[in-house]
Amino acid sequence: MVKITFITQENETITVEGNSGSIMELAVNNTIKGIDGDCGGVCSCATCHVHVAPEYMEVVGPPSEIENDMLELDDNVTEYSRLSCQIPLKETLDGIVLKVAN
Ligand code: FES
Repeated sequence: MVKITFITQENETITVEGNSGSIMELAVNNTIKGIDGDCGGVCSCATCHVHVAPEYMEVVGPPSEIENDMLELDDNVTEYSRLSCQIPLKETLDGIVLKVAN
């Protein structure tokens, strides 16, 4: 199981566990406020936008070009922005912290 911690816009810290799918799916399945996943994970809505805690950015990795194009449309974009539907759950992500950007 991979543990992921979300920090919501209200500063609530919620840690959930999963072992497959994307981080967006994990968030939606656990009703993490602010991650809606409206497009179902096809990188076309940005309702799954998160800011990766800086110390975990290297393990999460940068956004793809298509993801970047989508992020550019979002006002709240930073160098730590990722669309969580584009991050598959994997063991190396165990323990990461993501701040909900929406
Ligand atoms: S769920 Fe739509 S871009 Fe991630």
